[in-house]
Amino acid sequence: MESHPLVLLVLFFFMSQSTYSQQTPFTSCLQTKIGPLTNILYAPENPSYKPTLQEYVKNSRFNKSTTPKPNYIVTPNTFAHVQAIVNCANGNNIQIKIRSGGHDYEGISYTSTEPSFILLDMFNLRNISVNVGARLAYVQAGAQIGELYYNIWKASNNLAFPGGVCPTMGIGGHISGGGYGAMLRKYGLSVDNVVDAEIVDVNGRILDRKSMGEDLFWAIRGGGGASFGVILSYTVTLVDVPEIVTVFRVERVLEENATDLVNRWQYIAPVIDNRLFLRLFIQPVTIKPHGKTIKASFIAMFLGNGQELLGVTNKEFPELGVNKNDLREMSWIDSVLYFANFDNKTKPEILLDRHSDTVNFGKKKSDYFQTPVPKTGLDLIFKKMMELGNVVIQWNPYGGVMAQIPSSATPFPHRAGFLWKMQYLVDWKDATMEKENLNQMRILYDFMTPYASNSPRGAFLNYRDIDIGVNHNGANSYAEGKVYGEKYFLGNFDRLVKIKTAVDPKNFFRNEQSIPTSSTK
Ligand SMILES: Cc1cc2nc3c(=O)[nH]c(=O)nc-3n(C[C@H](O)[C@H](O)[C@H](O)COP(=O)(O)OP(=O)(O)OC[C@H]3O[C@@H](n4cnc5c(N)ncnc54)[C@H](O)[C@@H]3O)c2cc1C
Ligand SMILES: *[C@@H]1O[C@H](CO)[C@@H](O)[C@H](O)[C@H]1NC(C)=O
Ligand SMILES: *[C@@H]1O[C@H](CO)[C@@H](O)[C@H](O)[C@H]1NC(C)=O
Ligand SMILES: *[C@@H]1O[C@H](CO)[C@@H](O)[C@H](O)[C@H]1NC(C)=O
Ligand SMILES: *[C@@H]1O[C@H](CO)[C@@H](O)[C@H](O)[C@H]1NC(C)=O
Repeated sequence: MESHPLVLLVLFFFMSQSTYSQQTPFTSCLQTKIGPLTNILYAPENPSYKPTLQEYVKNSRFNKSTTPKPNYIVTPNTFAHVQAIVNCANGNNIQIKIRSGGHDYEGISYTSTEPSFILLDMFNLRNISVNVGARLAYVQAGAQIGELYYNIWKASNNLAFPGGVCPTMGIGGHISGGGYGAMLRKYGLSVDNVVDAEIVDVNGRILDRKSMGEDLFWAIRGGGGASFGVILSYTVTLVDVPEIVTVFRVERVLEENATDLVNRWQYIAPVIDNRLFLRLFIQPVTIKPHGKTIKASFIAMFLGNGQELLGVTNKEFPELGVNKNDLREMSWIDSVLYFANFDNKTKPEILLDRHSDTVNFGKKKSDYFQTPVPKTGLDLIFKKMMELGNVVIQWNPYGGVMAQIPSSATPFPHRAGFLWKMQYLVDWKDATMEKENLNQMRILYDFMTPYASNSPRGAFLNYRDIDIGVNHNGANSYAEGKVYGEKYFLGNFDRLVKIKTAVDPKNFFRNEQSIPTSSTK
């Protein structure tokens, strides 16, 4: 059926007048509170709606025409706007999804299983200030972690922040989910270095640490922000880094005794000098002259110079055969670029490019290990990975201060006794690979069951994985929430439920894997 030209003209006029064609109770509420909504609210018919939605979609799996889309996107410029958005959405009983950097592996910051929802997009709220004397940084939720690193580096060559390796991650999701990176064995998680926060609660109030109290402040350091309110900012302590740090990447295939080295790694990496983070990346490859094999990459970040590093590796891990030529000495900020896979000509200013990443289709999962995998198990796992072909795995050693911080200090529970965390990764560019790759992922995860932590099998909130359980359609079921909640939080889950029940009893702040209230079956 064709539209009459006059209809289109009238529609166009209407759209350009108001940026959205229909007032709803939510839009009128917002307009009453904050005035004209131009450049703040986007309805689907607004030409800016689609680009705004897609700008921070970081997984093409959730970029389809069939992906559920928000009724409106709201992009607050001030804290008062956030307060108004929360009040109006709550008053009209519409779910909000909060997005900072959009890196959620399952896209739950911008999609929903509920029939209608509003996307609250925080990208305009991204001020950062660094106070070298006080060794503190204030960073708003919509800033990216790379922007924080850049600002710290600009202010001091000796200070840093222990966050994750992908520079475009948003502060709001990354820190509230317990962020970790290449300094975790020395300085712990991001949340171990947070001293204050600002949040908009369910009543639209702005609270800081003092006014929110220690329970809520505890919850938003690893329990995920989205169950409790809208995180506006964190204040973090900065940590010392030497002017020279050292990195290396040493690769061995099965024919070069990779299995023995991986086996040894299990006993060494979690107990070695805590200035050394020795990540292991294991992938199936086909290379001459071996054909199909497994390549194990040992990727190091060391808070010290090359000579000191060789002292540590020669003594503790001589089998790896690290030598002087493998080492690259550099500043901490250049190590950030190195871990983000930029080449060594890249300048730190790349961290100010909010779209420096390439986005693919992807699926990730996680596991924790409390005991080493026997060598026979490694053989079987590698054989399975070669057979499957597309899934790669990454082992991140714990120990160091991770083993000293009590597991109840923050909601993040995997501390002493956890040797390393494993991430499963599969990425693809061709949409038709989805079914095959999700299936491969499931097979490898099942295969790993005998070796991974159990009762419950652990998972990392920042590696969002809806396969481990969901709360359906905003049902707020404690029983459903406990299934994924105990995997992410172990013994800390019930404290999160208590806090949730106290601060948001009607479960306004909810998503597919939020913390449920205790009053529900
Ligand atoms: C390429 C890549 C690399 C990664 N590397 C690491 C790593 O090295 N270390 C690590 O720890 N993690 C890593 N992650 C995972 C990352 O930490 C999480 O995806 C994190 O949630 C991203 O935060 P975000 O703000 O970008 O995400 P979003 O998708 O915006 O949000 C994630 C979750 O947090 C909620 N949320 C976001 N902002 C707010 C807010 N202001 N208030 C309340 N709730 C909010 C969302 O509603 C959602 O539930 C990586 C992810 C990707 C895609
Ligand atoms: C999403 O789709 C649009 C086309 O509609 C495309 O331009 C954009 O690059 C896609 N983004 C991602 C992350 O897939
Ligand atoms: C961000 O900083 C600018 C410049 O100092 C200031 O004008 C603005 O109000 C700040 N915005 C927020 C939301 O804090
Ligand atoms: C592998 O291990 C064997 C036996 O320990 C050793 O003889 C051989 O040199 C090693 N190969 C490599 C490439 O390190
Ligand atoms: C930069 O990278 C290239 C290519 O990997 C390498 O050959 C070169 O030695 C590196 N330069 C420095 C200063 O690390």
